[in-house]
Amino acid sequence: MSLICPSVLSADFSKLGAEVEDVLNGGADWIHYDVMDGRFVPNISIGIPVLKSLSKAVKAFYDVHLMIEEPHRYIAGFAKAGADMISFHVEAEEDCSGTLDLIHSYGIKAGIVVKPNTPAEEVFPYLDKTDMVLVMTVEPGFGGQKYMADMCPKIRAIRDEAKRIGKEDLLIEVDGGIASDTVGFTAAAGANVFVAGSSVFGKKDRAAAIESIRNAADAALVQ
Ligand code: DX5
Ligand code: ZN
Repeated sequence: MSLICPSVLSADFSKLGAEVEDVLNGGADWIHYDVMDGRFVPNISIGIPVLKSLSKAVKAFYDVHLMIEEPHRYIAGFAKAGADMISFHVEAEEDCSGTLDLIHSYGIKAGIVVKPNTPAEEVFPYLDKTDMVLVMTVEPGFGGQKYMADMCPKIRAIRDEAKRIGKEDLLIEVDGGIASDTVGFTAAAGANVFVAGSSVFGKKDRAAAIESIRNAADAALVQ
């Protein structure tokens, strides 16, 4: 089963609650919440107070993607603000294992993220204790970039390794340039959670946009 996760980075922030309700009504499974610190990535987005207000106003599964340095310092804040899943970059954290434990200690799901130039093997040591691996299909920092087709072997390598260690239920999320014409390649490689920013929020009819991405993903989905 595929999960479709619109990224609020492409939403109209002046009416964020209404935007999130719109995509939920349109069939979104999760809400992807991008956090950028201007250091790990060359852009700044939204943080803990906005998540706190949003999660209070609109019930959803909040999938928080931390693109920040020293992520362990902010886990408590995001967990208490309503995150249901927190993912952090393997490149940004010295103690990945401890940070996964810290996230789980709040009773929520934990994920680990790889940038395009980071090999799959970097996350292998953590597969047994992570709920999800997020494979970036663009350089993190901005919405609306072009999907990088050459990330598929990495997705496949992570799916194969998860199978090898008996972790059939590992979620693999892809993020960046995902749309109805690109999602199928990632699903065929083993991804099952699909972040879509501009290809959902950039469209007038969000329900139709979500449906076309889901149909393309489901048609290609393998495990
Ligand atoms: C990029 C963010 C993405 C972004 C995706 O650094 O992590 O979640 O919002 O946007 P699109 O789908 O437009 O590439
Ligand atoms: Zn993201």
